Amino acid sequence: MTTRPPGEAPAAVSLREIDGANWLECVRLTVSEGQKGMVATNAFSLCQARYEPGWKPLAVYEKDRMVGFVMFSETAHPEWGYWIVRLMIDKAHQGRGLGRATLVEVLRLMAEKPDCHEVFISHHPENKAADRLYSSRGFVRTGTVLDNGEVVRVCRALQPEPR
Ligand SMILES: CC(C)(COP(=O)(O)OP(=O)(O)OC[C@H]1O[C@@H](n2cnc3c(N)ncnc32)[C@H](O)[C@@H]1OP(=O)(O)O)[C@@H](O)C(=O)NCCC(=O)NCCS
Repeated sequence: MTTRPPGEAPAAVSLREIDGANWLECVRLTVSEGQKGMVATNAFSLCQARYEPGWKPLAVYEKDRMVGFVMFSETAHPEWGYWIVRLMIDKAHQGRGLGRATLVEVLRLMAEKPDCHEVFISHHPENKAADRLYSSRGFVRTGTVLDNGEVVRVCRALQPEPR
């Protein structure tokens, strides 16, 4: 749950490139033991982005501290369109609105693409945090279940939210 004190400003994050200077820090970010089956490791995702075309991996920063990771498709898959995958916030920084702020920033980036009118996302059906986060930002279930059991959601309201 988000535990930001009442009245405090919403969490602010920036999304930055992963390069030779920060990749190791990214690989060292971790989720809790109970969350490990919910998302691939950042090391796996960085390998995937290196060898599978079209993925954009980004580090999530709160001020100058890396707190998370996210990846999205830079070009539309011919069948599946645009995706956000692997959103994670390090276990030490969860519950402060950073996941929500990250999702807003990624959607803002994707909305700049002229052909991006909908974005897909998937999550384990038992992933309560993802379920709540995505549904509250307008991702509705499509009814599709992937081979790995994850449910697919789509968001068709990409307009930036007021800051
Ligand atoms: C999902 C995840 C990114 C959310 O990040 P976060 O910074 O902790 O989330 P936020 O603080 O921004 O909260 C966003 C919403 O999720 C809900 N949420 C967060 N953790 C929750 C939990 N453990 N149980 C239920 N809801 C939870 C919050 O209630 C909040 O909604 P609210 O503002 O209506 O209360 C984070 O839990 C995570 O990294 N999980 C492991 C990786 C993962 O499962 N990623 C998703 C892959 S599909």
